[in-house]
Amino acid sequence: AATPWLLLLCLILAAGGVLQARAQPDRFISVDCGLQGETGYTENTTKLSMAPDNGGFTDDAGTCHNISAEYVTPLMGKSWFNLRSFAAGTRNCYTLRSIVPGLKYLVRARFMYGNYDGLHRLPMFDLHIGVNFWRTVNISSPFAAKFVEVIVVVPDDYVQVCLINTGAGTPFISGLDLRPLKKTMYPQVTAAQGLVLLTRFNFGGDENTGIRYPDDPHDRMWFPWVNSSSWTEISTTRRVKYEADSPFEAPMAVMQTAIRPRNASHNIEFDWEPQPQANDPSPGYIIIMHFSELQLLPSNAVREFYINLNGKLLNRDVMRPPYLYGQASYNTFAIRKSYYIVSLNATANSTLPPIINALELFSVIPTTNLSTNSQDVSAILVIKAKYQVHKNWMGDPCGPGTVMVWDSLTCSYAIASPPRITRVDLSSRGLNGDISSSFANLKALQYLNLSNNNLVGSIPNVLSQLTSLTVLYGNNSDICTNGNSCQLPTKQRRSINNSVRPRNEMMTSYASGDDLYGDGSLRLESRQFTYEELKMITNNFERVLGRGGFGYVYDGFLEDGTQVAVKLRSHSSDQGDKEFLAEARILTQIHHKNLVTMIGYCKDGEYLALVYEYMSEGTLRSKLEGQCLSWRQRLRIALESAQGLEYLHKGCNPPLVHRDVKTTNILLNAKMEARIADFGLSKAFEGDNKHVSTTTLVGTPGYVDPEYQATMQATAKSDVYSFGVVLLEVVTGK
Ligand SMILES: *[C@@H]1O[C@H](CO)[C@@H](O)[C@H](O)[C@H]1NC(C)=O
Ligand SMILES: *[C@@H]1O[C@H](CO)[C@@H](O)[C@H](O)[C@H]1NC(C)=O
Ligand SMILES: *[C@@H]1O[C@H](CO)[C@@H](O)[C@H](O)[C@H]1NC(C)=O
Ligand SMILES: *[C@@H]1O[C@H](CO)[C@@H](O)[C@H](O)[C@H]1NC(C)=O
Ligand SMILES: *[C@@H]1O[C@H](CO)[C@@H](O)[C@H](O)[C@H]1NC(C)=O
Ligand SMILES: *[C@@H]1O[C@H](CO)[C@@H](O)[C@H](O)[C@H]1NC(C)=O
Ligand SMILES: *[C@@H]1O[C@H](CO)[C@@H](O)[C@H](O)[C@H]1NC(C)=O
Ligand SMILES: *[C@@H]1O[C@H](CO)[C@@H](O)[C@H](O)[C@H]1NC(C)=O
Ligand SMILES: *[C@@H]1O[C@H](CO)[C@@H](O)[C@H](O)[C@H]1NC(C)=O
Ligand SMILES: *[C@@H]1O[C@H](CO)[C@@H](O)[C@H](O)[C@H]1NC(C)=O
Ligand SMILES: *[C@@H]1O[C@H](CO)[C@@H](O)[C@H](O)[C@H]1NC(C)=O
Repeated sequence: AATPWLLLLCLILAAGGVLQARAQPDRFISVDCGLQGETGYTENTTKLSMAPDNGGFTDDAGTCHNISAEYVTPLMGKSWFNLRSFAAGTRNCYTLRSIVPGLKYLVRARFMYGNYDGLHRLPMFDLHIGVNFWRTVNISSPFAAKFVEVIVVVPDDYVQVCLINTGAGTPFISGLDLRPLKKTMYPQVTAAQGLVLLTRFNFGGDENTGIRYPDDPHDRMWFPWVNSSSWTEISTTRRVKYEADSPFEAPMAVMQTAIRPRNASHNIEFDWEPQPQANDPSPGYIIIMHFSELQLLPSNAVREFYINLNGKLLNRDVMRPPYLYGQASYNTFAIRKSYYIVSLNATANSTLPPIINALELFSVIPTTNLSTNSQDVSAILVIKAKYQVHKNWMGDPCGPGTVMVWDSLTCSYAIASPPRITRVDLSSRGLNGDISSSFANLKALQYLNLSNNNLVGSIPNVLSQLTSLTVLYGNNSDICTNGNSCQLPTKQRRSINNSVRPRNEMMTSYASGDDLYGDGSLRLESRQFTYEELKMITNNFERVLGRGGFGYVYDGFLEDGTQVAVKLRSHSSDQGDKEFLAEARILTQIHHKNLVTMIGYCKDGEYLALVYEYMSEGTLRSKLEGQCLSWRQRLRIALESAQGLEYLHKGCNPPLVHRDVKTTNILLNAKMEARIADFGLSKAFEGDNKHVSTTTLVGTPGYVDPEYQATMQATAKSDVYSFGVVLLEVVTGK
């Protein structure tokens, strides 16, 4: 018999029996898409609470519409009145949260077009469940209420349902349901395979009444299928049960009715045609049939039958439905045929015709595409929310495939592990505010371009923990990187009373650069020390660690016991405020694991000092002279110094030339990790002419390249030359 796939609205789904206003199960989510306002309502027949979708479900994508009045019928449930459509963007998604990762869920989407747009144009579009293809939705009638359902294992603590515009009309949706299932149910559903419902029928019963929650505690929808010309109904009012934890338990209301052929010598037959999908021209099917004997048979009566598919036994066992107990017949592995005719025929010994109580038909979909690493997803969602990025940032950041990846992101893909975000280019996106520390949670990030925005504040220290990151933040009006545009804040400027000026005005003046010398304390993360505090920290400058052109470096301890190195400018120093400020400024803005970390600074009257992390193993020079370094250690030190230098040249915008790379400026910590120090001579050089021009030669004899000596113009190549000399020392120890 032909099966009516499209269920018309005259079919009212009502819960059979007496409805009690019982509390809805905890983890049910029912969304009425396109519902206006903030408040939901209780659905009349199921008593389930329906939520409006203008909250966190869609990130405010899409627009709400009502269906045309001509399609509203008196008995139609309120949830069909409105819908949400997505005219913009290729992919728009609903995010359902509060999921237990690894559990099975039934996800159901509902659609009724109702000529909501007045265009009389029936759309066709795709649905994705997370990063996997679910099915194509072909809206074939304006008044058809279409349900589509999938059962999947959800790997994350959220699941996304995405509508994909395939160029065949504007996607829309009327409703969305999520129902948790027991782990033991539908064993064909695995992490790698989901089941897409073709149909779920209850044989017998009231032909106008479907069965769902609360009769089915999992709120599956069982549609009635009655054909009085072919079948006779059998029913009981007694309890009909499945064994506890049966994988296919159908609800009792469904099992209490069955059909048998009207002519007892006939078979029960039904058929369907395969429904090819875009990515699966010959889908595989799972057939689940539910049986229970509802009549107490006399001792001489036998009801047993074969279950055949296309004339061959589907199930080797002869079916003898147990009295008032449910029993399911099903296939474990999907079957792929060009047509499907199921027939139930009585065995020769049977005195009674076959019966069937219920039928579920599913096609299988692979769910093998992996969603982006969940830590990356959490981080990028925080970044999305902070900077209000809307354009195409919907669904999974990296997939599926490289086609759907979010605008401005690049990901890496591996076969058996989730994709990772490796590049973020948010340059020229009009970003405001400070730099989110969430970038540091993108642990696989290699490239971050935040140039040409209106960002303020300092670079979060945590970014230095990303081992392979190149960070770019140039041309933001209030993140200073360039030689003379920025000065250290003073204490007095710090105490500006913010309430005297409206906040937005302040932000504007920062952004315009008018106030670059103003309350810059907002921009510096590092601590400011007074001279008195430095005296305490260094125990009155007791122990000298070393000495440079700038002055002495002293040993010290902070209140919490952290050992530090304090570099105090001596009065006789030939390096002035300028170099001091240059180094402080550079250190507060660049962070890399192979560049020495500044903890704070002091600018107290005539006193200038910088406070660094303590590098217990001293300089590379002293190590090379003093003791035997293994080749492995030498190699690592060379590599790490090179990475620090590369960061200065390529990671900073504008790039920095160190101009004094030498073994005494490479420091080692207790773990023998190398960090480049002494930025007093560093200069930013602009991309175009790629050099720095000064009137005096700087650097250390022996390390300075001849080109620089000849032209007085230092380039990144000058540092490379100096680094070559460092390598020579590392290799020879001399
Ligand atoms: C839809 O209908 C409701 C109730 O009649 C009304 O409040 C709402 O404004 C309508 N929405 C649109 C988008 O027309
Ligand atoms: C739902 O029930 C309420 C209260 O009984 C009633 O006012 C409303 O019309 C019903 N709605 C539908 C769509 O049946
Ligand atoms: C979509 O539905 C329409 C109307 O039922 C039908 O004519 C059309 O062939 C269908 N398209 C596809 C691709 O199934
Ligand atoms: C009922 O069964 C008859 C005979 O198999 C068939 O011709 C008819 O289309 C069926 N009706 C429905 C509504 O399925
Ligand atoms: C039942 O079907 C058989 C075989 O098709 C036929 O011979 C018989 O006449 C039918 N009986 C009735 C009552 O229709
Ligand atoms: C019933 O099915 C069995 C198994 O496929 C088959 O051998 C037998 O011929 C069928 N009998 C009738 C009457 O269809
Ligand atoms: C039919 O009954 C006979 C006698 O009880 C038995 O030997 C035979 O296996 C039965 N056939 C089937 C198909 O159950
Ligand atoms: C998995 O992703 C690829 C793109 O990389 C896509 O072509 C394919 O359809 C996806 N598979 C599923 C099952 O959705
Ligand atoms: C960063 O983005 C800016 C603006 O799009 C671009 O000009 C610059 O080349 C980018 N930097 C790098 C290193 O890719
Ligand atoms: C910096 O921003 C200004 C103003 O937006 C723009 O004119 C200039 O080209 C940008 N410079 C760079 C190097 O991108
Ligand atoms: C800031 O200025 C406002 C208005 O002049 C004053 O009421 C407030 O007490 C000041 N706050 C501080 C911390 O000085």
